Amino acid sequence: MQLGRIKIRYSVSLAYSVIYIAFLAVSIGLLSVYPTISSRDSVFSAKQNALTSQVTVMSVSLAALEQLSAEGVEQVMNLLDVGEYDRVLVTDSAGLVLYDTETRGSLLGQSCAFPQVLDALVWGNISCRFRYDTLAFSSEAAAPVMSYGSVIGSVYLHERDTDQADMIRSLQGRLRSISLIAGAVTLLLTVLFSRYLTRRLRTLVDGMRIVREGDYDYRVPVKGADEVSDLSEAFNEMTGRLQSTDELRRRFVSDASHELRTPLASIRLLSDSVVQSDRMDPDTMREFVTDIGTEAERLQRLTEKLMRLTRMDSKLPVSRSPVQLKAVAERAVHLLRPLAEQKNVTVRAELDESAVIYAAEDDLLQIVFNLTENAIKYNSRGGSVTLRLTREGDRAVLRVEDTGIGIPAEDLPHIFERFYRVDKARSREAGGSGLGLSIVHDAVLRHNGTIRAERRDPAGSRFTVSFPLYAGETGGGEE
Ligand SMILES: Nc1ncnc2c1ncn2[C@@H]1O[C@H](COP(=O)(O)OP(=O)(O)O)[C@@H](O)[C@H]1O
Ligand SMILES: [Mg+2]
Repeated sequence: MQLGRIKIRYSVSLAYSVIYIAFLAVSIGLLSVYPTISSRDSVFSAKQNALTSQVTVMSVSLAALEQLSAEGVEQVMNLLDVGEYDRVLVTDSAGLVLYDTETRGSLLGQSCAFPQVLDALVWGNISCRFRYDTLAFSSEAAAPVMSYGSVIGSVYLHERDTDQADMIRSLQGRLRSISLIAGAVTLLLTVLFSRYLTRRLRTLVDGMRIVREGDYDYRVPVKGADEVSDLSEAFNEMTGRLQSTDELRRRFVSDASHELRTPLASIRLLSDSVVQSDRMDPDTMREFVTDIGTEAERLQRLTEKLMRLTRMDSKLPVSRSPVQLKAVAERAVHLLRPLAEQKNVTVRAELDESAVIYAAEDDLLQIVFNLTENAIKYNSRGGSVTLRLTREGDRAVLRVEDTGIGIPAEDLPHIFERFYRVDKARSREAGGSGLGLSIVHDAVLRHNGTIRAERRDPAGSRFTVSFPLYAGETGGGEE
């Protein structure tokens, strides 16, 4: 069953791991990207507000000059605090740079082609641009300088902010390590858990394999209180059932062979004697052959009963019809009349003819016949047997009572078992096999009936059988 093992490992372990890892990847991804993006956006919008208002202040201050010149601009800019910016640049309306805080690579006296500046000069717009490159936030803004409705120049601001960028970077780093730790822990737990689950399932599968090989004593260990332990418990219960069925079957086979052996041995012995003796007088010979016949008859009865039991076990459909129980009981009594006469037992019958049940007639005859036969067989000479059939509520109740030897209390719970006999010698002498009552029991259960055996005061036994009464149309005759 290598295949089964592989299947389990793949289906449970792998499925778990794949699901967890997919879940992890998605959440770690979201966790590390989303906070960074949203904090970056909020930094951008704060910067946009600040920069726009600052560039506007500068533009308004410069507008007071009406005409932009390098000196004039310088004076105004000195009044404004421009030290906090990385670069401040002022151009005239043609884009010529009049003022530049940048010393290296200064554009002073040259024309400026920054897109923001062009935007301000050509369209009169305030325009901003932001960039974030993990090291710094770089923000640029330019505004036109307006005088009497016309553009006389532009101001340009550039700021590089590393503090905020550092903050975002460290946030990102921290999120990454938290995600990694969480991921590693989850992965570890997933692997451990799925290993644990797989191990338990494998124990169960191994147990099943052991039981399948026929070791019904084996029980799977049950740990915890989850679905796997429920499964193990159910499996153990099932094994228990199998075990008792198996035991029952073994006992049945061994009992049956034992029962068959006795008459076969006698037949063998008798026939050997006939064959071996040279001059046997005809009377003895006839006696021996008659004995052989008797034993053969016993064998025949036994095998018939065995076959009947097997047939009932096989749960084949029974064909049923409404049956008047009184007629069946009368037939059984009629068939047993010779036995009753031989044992000098009186059989009385008080039978309600309205007790009709829906059943297989042959099964009912078996029930009444076996109970009545026992009541006669295990009676004392001159005793009596009473069959009483009544209707009680929605049930037909048949009581078979005798004045015989009775059944000892300790044997009562066992008499319906196969081959069970209280007094083996007496039963065998009477031609019994110990199968009669188990046939009765099976047949009663097959018809949703109940059966009870009890001792009578002062002597004898009473068997009570009850069946649901036939209530009219019950449908077809097959079960
Ligand atoms: N009416 C009864 N009175 C006393 N003992 C009984 C009676 N019915 C059954 N038994 C006991 O129960 C045993 C089982 O009965 P049964 O299955 O019919 O087997 P058997 O073939 O011996 O009749 C009998 O051997 C007998 O010891
Ligand atoms: Mg019997």
